[in-house]
Amino acid sequence: MEGIKGRRALVTGGASGIGLAVARRLAGGGARVAVLDLPGEPLDRAASSGLVTAAADVRDPAQVRGAVAAVEESLHGLDTLVISAGVIHIKRLGEVTEADWDLTLDVNLKGAFLVAQAAAPALVDSRRGRIVAISSDAGRAGVPLLHAYSASKAGMIGLAQSLAGELAPHVTVNCLCPVSTPDTGMGRQVLAWKRDSTARTEEEVLDEIRRLFPLARTGTPEDVAAAVMFLVSDAAGFITGTAIDIDGGAALNTMPGAGS
Ligand SMILES: NC(=O)c1ccc[n+]([C@@H]2O[C@H](COP(=O)([O-])OP(=O)(O)OC[C@H]3O[C@@H](n4cnc5c(N)ncnc54)[C@H](O)[C@@H]3O)[C@@H](O)[C@H]2O)c1
Repeated sequence: MEGIKGRRALVTGGASGIGLAVARRLAGGGARVAVLDLPGEPLDRAASSGLVTAAADVRDPAQVRGAVAAVEESLHGLDTLVISAGVIHIKRLGEVTEADWDLTLDVNLKGAFLVAQAAAPALVDSRRGRIVAISSDAGRAGVPLLHAYSASKAGMIGLAQSLAGELAPHVTVNCLCPVSTPDTGMGRQVLAWKRDSTARTEEEVLDEIRRLFPLARTGTPEDVAAAVMFLVSDAAGFITGTAIDIDGGAALNTMPGAGS
């Protein structure tokens, strides 16, 4: 894809799942890539694979500023930011604690804001900046038992639109809204909850999800990474302030028997 080679990209939550798939795809396209994540084994593995790494908690403004500055120094600037760090909990309303709510909003929404704020000056300076934030189908319409998660992901779309106006014309800012993507840390957490709460096997749960999607399969981290590549490429240079569904058609009205 035109415009990926030579980019200098930071991917938050890039030590696992969707973020890692994005980091690998960008690096494969010739970008210089750094991943920011919590310290631990996944981040160590990313470092061993040749990615630049920065250990930080996205909830902490000082850690975020320090990590972004270190990445800018390593990469000699920054023109691409992918915001993928995220957490989820699945609980009935009466069981949600204040700590549950705060963690989810702080990582998913405040963390996105802090990282964008710290990276914005370098992205503007580059004159070809790109921000892609990983929201969710749960940010499009609230999902039962995902109060904080849905609120954080809807908030992310509003945040991205706000940034898109302010950082134009030097930076584009867009969201992606993936549907259930089981092959990640968060995806496995959600799948285990669905299995336990319905007393079915994981394969039965996955079969049901596949039946709900017109494109008849679950999403993969690579589906999301492919959309990130497009939004970062030159081809998407006139697209900003949007949110794109990566959902296999799940948002469509469907009718049993209507598909081929
Ligand atoms: N998997 C899905 O079904 C799905 C669907 C839609 C959207 N998403 C979104 O995709 C993004 C990536 O999730 P994933 O599915 O790859 O899950 P994941 O758990 O594999 O990745 C999330 C990453 O965020 C990091 N992270 C968590 N808290 C952090 C913090 N305080 N500071 C820094 N990093 C932190 C984790 O360490 C992890 O590496 C999330 O924002 C998630 O909401 C996932």
